[in-house]
Amino acid sequence: PIEERISLLMKEMTLEEKVGQMNQYNGFWDVTGPAPKGGNAELKYENLRKGWVGSMLTVRGVKEVRAVQKIAVEETRLGIPLIIGFDVIHGYKTLSPIPLAEAASWDMDAIKNSASVAADEASAAGINWTFGPNVDISRDARWGRMMEGAGEDPYLGSKIATARIKGFQGDNFSGNNKIAACAKHFAAYGFAESGRDYNTVDISNSTLFNVVLPPFKAAVDAGVKTLMNSFNILNGIPATGNAFLQRDILKGKWRFDGFVVSDWASVREMIAHGYAANGAEATMKAVNAGSDMDMESHLYVAELAKLVKEGKVKESLVDDAVRRILRVKFELGLFDNPYKYCDEAHEKTIGSKANNDAVLDMAKKSIVLLKNDGGLLPLKKKGQKVVLIGALAADKNSPLGSWRIASDDNTAVSVLEGMQKYDPALAYEKGTDLTIGKTSFTEELVFNTTDESGFEAAKKAAATADVVVMVLGENGFQSGEGRSRTNLDLPGNQQELLEAVYKVNKNIVLVLNNGRPLALPWAAANIPAIVEAWHLGTQTGNAVAEVLYGDYNPSGKLPVSFPRNVGQVPIYYNNYSTGRPVDSDKNVFWSHYSDVEKTPLFPFGFGLSYTTFEYKNLEVSKAIYAKGEAIKVSVVVTNSGNFDGKEVVQLYIHDQSASLARPVKELKGFELASLKKGESKTITFTLTDKELGFYDNEGNYLVEPGMFKIMVGGSSDKGLESSFQLN
Ligand code: IFM
Repeated sequence: PIEERISLLMKEMTLEEKVGQMNQYNGFWDVTGPAPKGGNAELKYENLRKGWVGSMLTVRGVKEVRAVQKIAVEETRLGIPLIIGFDVIHGYKTLSPIPLAEAASWDMDAIKNSASVAADEASAAGINWTFGPNVDISRDARWGRMMEGAGEDPYLGSKIATARIKGFQGDNFSGNNKIAACAKHFAAYGFAESGRDYNTVDISNSTLFNVVLPPFKAAVDAGVKTLMNSFNILNGIPATGNAFLQRDILKGKWRFDGFVVSDWASVREMIAHGYAANGAEATMKAVNAGSDMDMESHLYVAELAKLVKEGKVKESLVDDAVRRILRVKFELGLFDNPYKYCDEAHEKTIGSKANNDAVLDMAKKSIVLLKNDGGLLPLKKKGQKVVLIGALAADKNSPLGSWRIASDDNTAVSVLEGMQKYDPALAYEKGTDLTIGKTSFTEELVFNTTDESGFEAAKKAAATADVVVMVLGENGFQSGEGRSRTNLDLPGNQQELLEAVYKVNKNIVLVLNNGRPLALPWAAANIPAIVEAWHLGTQTGNAVAEVLYGDYNPSGKLPVSFPRNVGQVPIYYNNYSTGRPVDSDKNVFWSHYSDVEKTPLFPFGFGLSYTTFEYKNLEVSKAIYAKGEAIKVSVVVTNSGNFDGKEVVQLYIHDQSASLARPVKELKGFELASLKKGESKTITFTLTDKELGFYDNEGNYLVEPGMFKIMVGGSSDKGLESSFQLN
């Protein structure tokens, strides 16, 4: 009946009202009051009253959402409700870890639950559509938006996309705590040249089909309601005007029946790209290419009806876009109750204890132990003097991470506060200021590179300690949109501080805060214990303290390779072999660097635990398989250390010879296994055509006979090996 209801409604709609549904405005001002003078707020109100607005973004809070919805429902001719969008990237007010950190958990239940909590809080604030998940694969740590994605791997990225969408959307929208999700940015935004945000994307079809598109396809298969296109051009055509991506692949081949929203002003940006001469042409190209909703370009509402009347855009394309938008509104239940998400009692649950417990759980699961020489960790709860150093250790804002709009500043539990629960007399020294002046989401940060006045006090305190914990890394706003970097080192003079402290006490636990891989070769070589703690959100300090003091045994694994230096970038585990992969002739003519090892500093899939795991008895159930048969691969994993723990058991394949060269390794299965100390478990994977094939350069999926190598282990760089033949 939804389709019939849409048809009936569309019969009533004028062309201008249809175009209105395709128009989305941002509303930053207090919409319960009068529109501010100047700017375009008054025009937005006017258009809203005419029924020329289908969606608003960034309006939040029950009172505000109710106010705009009331205008749409009560003052417009047809009373079509608005869909209210918001960037719920890693939580609404109670923040979970940044998405890249969550990916390090490899825990699909936890990730799904985290998205579910985010949906619950956002929906309680009147929001019914999130601009997430970001499913952009990226291999370039210089790109600041890597923090919003799931890392470098399309298989892991696809599983995480699915988990997040299920978490946001649930099975249906019968209650009022699930919201429509939006897979973004379609497509290839993560491949911006040299990692500079918004930059040109020029990639092969092979990379497009095998690396970039799979998480989007997984999102569509998981029932995602919307997609957002991206700012970049892809091989010469802006994504927003790209009919191949949006019409042929997404709506054609994949049969996606939701709608595509543009990115912020990306319709207009086609003029700057040199792909449209003016707003009318940009509108024509965007709509013809399948961009259904215009976010803040203000162009559809100005140009589209005229273009239809002139015959430059077929009305059937407008109808298709409007049907898609109305379909999502119907599915959300907004026509049955436009105020469904305006529930004051629900709003009071924002920031609840249960939500804080959930983000704490997610934060602990996101931590990756990168090094632990001599069992320096966990710290002893008694009889050990610990000194804490670093500006980030006491910071209550930075751990909240980037891309957060609704959370209040300075609401994170700092590492200092978390550790004080274990050691109330904990000595703390800042050592150095990381930044100078205020830090903000929108403005460039200024880093302190010169003032070393706090070094002496830090060294003095460190000299008295049994163990020094140093929290160093990036400010939470140093990654995210518009935050590309050409250096991947510790910003400011933190490296100097680290080395100065090391001179007086080598027993250092380095806790890293960052939204992207950092290149820290000196620390990796010299510092005995390194904990990757990303930006973990509201409960950061509690999560870090539980891990440091051993109440939680870390099990995270890197979802992205960490380079040795920026010159190695892009570096990723699923690369191709080259014709000269190894040094076989003892000369320089093989694929390598002269000045640094070829391998990453820390590989994809790597992460330690307080316990140890051993792998044995890798078995493939048969040596020869027929196409279409399910292949069983099993391995016995034993917890051989002294703590209970969890291990992400990873399965990689290598198609040894195919009609197109295949990567040296591809993740095709993983399982998070819980093992008590001394316990052994048999982990079994099933490989089918879905895992064994690849896309050719035309986008056809091929499963080819031949020999396949497999590797199973706790990291992408080593494991037990076997093989099988596919006939
Ligand atoms: O959702 C975001 C997008 O990722 C970047 N540009 C703005 C959008 C809406 O805030």
